[in-house]
Parts: sequence; C-alpha cells; structure tokens
Amino acid sequence: MTPVRRIIIDTDPGVDDAIAILMALAAPQVEVVGLTTVGGNVSLAQGTRNALALLEFTGASQVPVSRGASRPRRGKYLYSHEFHGKTGLTRRMPAPSIRECGEPAVEFMAGRLEQHPREIDLVALGPLTNLARLHRRYPGVLAKGRSVTVMGGAVGAPGNVTPHAEFNFYSDPVAAREVLETGVPMTLVDLGACRQVWISREDAAASHEEGPLGRLAAEILQGWFEQDPRRDRFEFYDPLTMAVCLDPDIVGSQPVTLEVGTEQGSRWGESRVTGEGGPVSVADEVDAPRFFALLETLLGIKGS
Ligand code: BDR
Ligand code: CA
Repeated sequence: MTPVRRIIIDTDPGVDDAIAILMALAAPQVEVVGLTTVGGNVSLAQGTRNALALLEFTGASQVPVSRGASRPRRGKYLYSHEFHGKTGLTRRMPAPSIRECGEPAVEFMAGRLEQHPREIDLVALGPLTNLARLHRRYPGVLAKGRSVTVMGGAVGAPGNVTPHAEFNFYSDPVAAREVLETGVPMTLVDLGACRQVWISREDAAASHEEGPLGRLAAEILQGWFEQDPRRDRFEFYDPLTMAVCLDPDIVGSQPVTLEVGTEQGSRWGESRVTGEGGPVSVADEVDAPRFFALLETLLGIKGS
C-alpha cells in the first residue's frame, strides 16, 4: 500500500488556490495536514474565511486552518479582486461555522515539521511571507520537510503584474528572496510553466462533475469566466503547482540559484537566475497531457 503523503498548503484563496486545495482533498493517500493562510489575492481575513468555507462545504472540517501574515515584509499586499472576484471565490459559499485553530501559521508549520520530519510536503501558493517568517523564527526547520513546491516568479517569461514580476513574488519580494536563498532544495513552478496548462471557456462550461469536489471546482471555474465575457482561457497556476507536488514527473526542471529584486522601482519582484546547479529547480517543460490526466482523475475537469 502506498504510504500516506502529508501536505501543508500555504495559500491565499483565490480561485486557482481553491482548485489546488480541492485537488489535494481529492487525492487518494494524501492527508492535508493543514491550510496556512496569508494575505495576497484577498485580505488575510477573507482568505482565511474562504479556506474555512471550502473545507466545511466539502466535508473536510477536520483539516485545521491556521492564520498567517496579514502584511508583507514591506508595504501592503495589493489584492487581486479584479481577477479573483469580490470575495476571492467566484462562487457563493455558505458562511463557515468552523473557526481557525488557535496556533499561528508559523508555529503550526514548525510544529508539524518537527513532529513528522522528512514526511511533510509543503506547497506554497501565495506570497512567501509565512515561509520566510518560519525560516527566520525557526532556522533549519524548513529543511525538515519532505519537499517544498512554490508557485511564483517569472523566470525567462513576462510577469503578470509588471513586465518582470509575477504576483506572488511582487507581493512580498523580500520574503521570496529569503526563501529562495535558504539553500533548502525546492521546486519553483513559475509563470512560464503555468501558462502551458489552461482551459478554454467552452471546456470549462462543459465540466459537469458529479462528485462534490469536482462540482465545486467546475462552478468556481465557470464563475470566473462569467465575471468577464472577454476571458477566453484560465491558466492553472496553483493547480499545476499542486500537481507537481503530487507527481513531480509532470515537469522537467533546471537547478539554479535565483534572486528576487527587492529594489524599489521597475525590478521589484523580478526573479533573476544568478547561477547554475543551485537548490532551486525551476520547472520548464510541462507534460500537459499528464497534468490534465491528473486533473481529470481528481476533479473530473477535462482540458484539451
Ligand atoms: C499567482 O498569483 C495569484 O493570483 C494566483 O493565486 C497564483 O498563486 C499567479 O501569479
Ligand atoms: Ca495563490
């Protein structure tokens, strides 16, 4: 029997975060140890509420939600309501009756990583504020995970906030830089990789999965298209990142050292390769059919 994989998801839900979370909940032999929240796409309060609502609605109320950073290291999060909608989820969700656990995100992550050394896969889907704080407060603990998979950066690809910067890195470049420079091996799933997997409006509309997780994912996806008639494709940023954690062979990757621009101005949040053979494996080639096969198995969503 395949042993249980334990996953902590650090997230700012968020439409694509929500789909990634649903993938993990649907995956057999995966225990979602907890969701740690961070401001980003929406405020920390709204993102935490969304995490609780998703879990309760899908019958996963036992999964702890732990509240993290409401502000980045410098400045404020920019929030992305234009993309993710007013609440961050493009489908109305019942107000959650469950509450977050009392333990703050950094202590939650440190505690679980110490409790299960080399067993926890950490998947970071938002600004890296919580992970940077974890590293600063508990040096060495990040290396106790089984794997670290991060969605962020635009390495050799145009950004989505500025010509050079991707949203998660742009939101807290100081944290992103600190995390990438820890020397802990990690996989970075950047915009260039994520743009290789997307679904059209027509294919999203045709998704009618019977199971509760797949149905919710399809409704969130369809809601995103309904928000703007000009939208013709949804790119699977956080879902690809979750897929890489579940099945690393979905991507090929190049090991490099990377730095993130923290100087105010046009280079803010830019990801720059500074050397070959380093601890950060940047995903390059994506096996799109393999990603879509996994997405279909987990949530019944068919891409083409
Ligand atoms: C990233 O930014 C957010 O809008 C998405 O949730 C994803 O994590 C893509 O740049
Ligand atoms: Ca996200």
